[in-house]
Parts: sequence; C-alpha cells; structure tokens
Amino acid sequence: MDEQNPMAGPDQWESDLPRRYPAPQKESQTDRSQQAFRDYEAEARPTVKEFYRLNHQYQTVEFVKQKRDEFLSLNRQQMGIWEAMEFLNTLVDDSDPDTELSQIEHLVQAAEAIRADEHPRWFILTGLIHDLGKILCLFGEPQWAVVGDTFPVGCAHSSSIVYHDFFRLNPDWGHPVYSTQSGIYEAHAGLDQVMMSWGHDEYLYHVTKAHLPAEAQYMIRYHSFYPGHRENAYQHLFSDQDHRLFQWVRKFNPYDLYSKSDSRPDVERLKPFYLELIDEFFPTELAW
Ligand SMILES: [Fe+2]
Ligand SMILES: [Fe+2]
Repeated sequence: MDEQNPMAGPDQWESDLPRRYPAPQKESQTDRSQQAFRDYEAEARPTVKEFYRLNHQYQTVEFVKQKRDEFLSLNRQQMGIWEAMEFLNTLVDDSDPDTELSQIEHLVQAAEAIRADEHPRWFILTGLIHDLGKILCLFGEPQWAVVGDTFPVGCAHSSSIVYHDFFRLNPDWGHPVYSTQSGIYEAHAGLDQVMMSWGHDEYLYHVTKAHLPAEAQYMIRYHSFYPGHRENAYQHLFSDQDHRLFQWVRKFNPYDLYSKSDSRPDVERLKPFYLELIDEFFPTELAW
C-alpha cells in the first residue's frame, strides 16, 4: 500500500458498497436512516475510510478542470472495447483472488444478469463496458481519482455524501461561491452543465458517448453518483431530462452491486456473443 492508494485495489471501494446499500430484500422495513449511514461509517475498513479522506480532500474544482484537460482530449491510445477489457484485466488487485472477481468477470457477470432479465441489447452492452474507465488506474492515476462515489464540485457538498466531514479538508470548503447550495450553477441547469468529481464514470462517458443511446450514456456517466441516485441529493441541479433518465441509472445499479456474489461467468464461452454485441454498436477502435 502506498499513501495515494490505501486500498488493496480500486475494487475494494466497489465491494464495500453492498454493505452501505444492502440489496432490497435485506433492507429493514423502515427507510434507511442517518443512523444507518453513521453505523456504516463507523464500521468501514480503515483502508476504505482513508480512501474517502483522500478523495474528499483532493477533488476540487481546480483538480477536476485539470483532469478534464489532461484526459478528455482522448489522445492516449486507440483500442477496441474487448481490447480495453483485456487491458483493464491486467490491473492487479491485492484482494483475495479466490473470492474477488477479475475485472472482466465483473463486467461479464453484470452483463449476463442484465441479459437474463431480457433487457435490450444496448443495456446488456452497457453492463459489459460500464467500468472500463478504470483503465485510468493503469495510466497511473491514484484510486481516489478513479473510483469512489461521485458528486458535483463547485457547489456545497451534500450532507448525504459518505464521510461528509472529510470535506472540511477540501480547499473549496468555505469558498464564498462553491460553498453555496447551487454554487457556480443555475438552479435546475441540468447535470450536463455540472462538473462532477473526476473518475472512471466521466472518462468512459466521453470515450463511448457517440455510439450509445442517451439512457446508456446516463448509466455510464452517473453510475457512481450515489448521492444522486440513491440518496436523492442535488435535486436542485437536476433538469427534467435528468429526472427522466435517472430512472435508468437506478435500474442499472442493482446489476452493478448485487450480481457479484453469483458464480463466476465462463468468459471464454460467452466471448463470441459479446464480440458480436460490441460490433453492433462500436467501431473496431476507439480513442482513449
Ligand atoms: Fe463503476
Ligand atoms: Fe461496476
């Protein structure tokens, strides 16, 4: 472990989410309370807590602008989707390899769960690719700038963001504009106008947006925006379109979170089906 990467791998954050947001049948009758949230914070692994401290401290307006300039010109590499999946799979995670799925296995498993529920082909494809933005780790980016719950920057941090207190360490905390409810944005401007904290969602959205329907773009761009899709925060920034399309973000989330405990998918057997699906929507190479 190094100072910038306290977790065994970027997936420790994702593996920890079902504990904070248990599957519906496991959830108590009453709505989750602030108390449940604090219980979660008290029990989280020290490495996960440290990860959130770094994330909340360093994700500033300036940082996000800098990362957008650095990565969104998409001039690093030309790669097809399956190639990117294999590239992502080279990411070494120190978690227990017997219990943790590989990157490709997580992607195929989410896609297979979506397929089993007979959703449209673009939806299955979205499951297959949703985490490819994590290749940012392979470009040397620290965990706190790749994974983690995302949130708008440039306006007040919602108290529903996990470990909200760590935002006191953020240079934007107390800023005369950034600390107000809408900050640098107009009320109901729409999320497209809003800069989200930097990570794998926003990056992959820009790589793939030209080839996918709007519903899929939203699923990719906001799947880690737990304050928005699970806690209903930041409604004052949402446009009518955001409200409409967040239904799809919410529809996607269980496939990401709760398909993991099932048995390992047979990737080699399933590969031909997925290569054909990729071909249906994407060119042979994309700019990353
Ligand atoms: Fe993700
Ligand atoms: Fe995921």
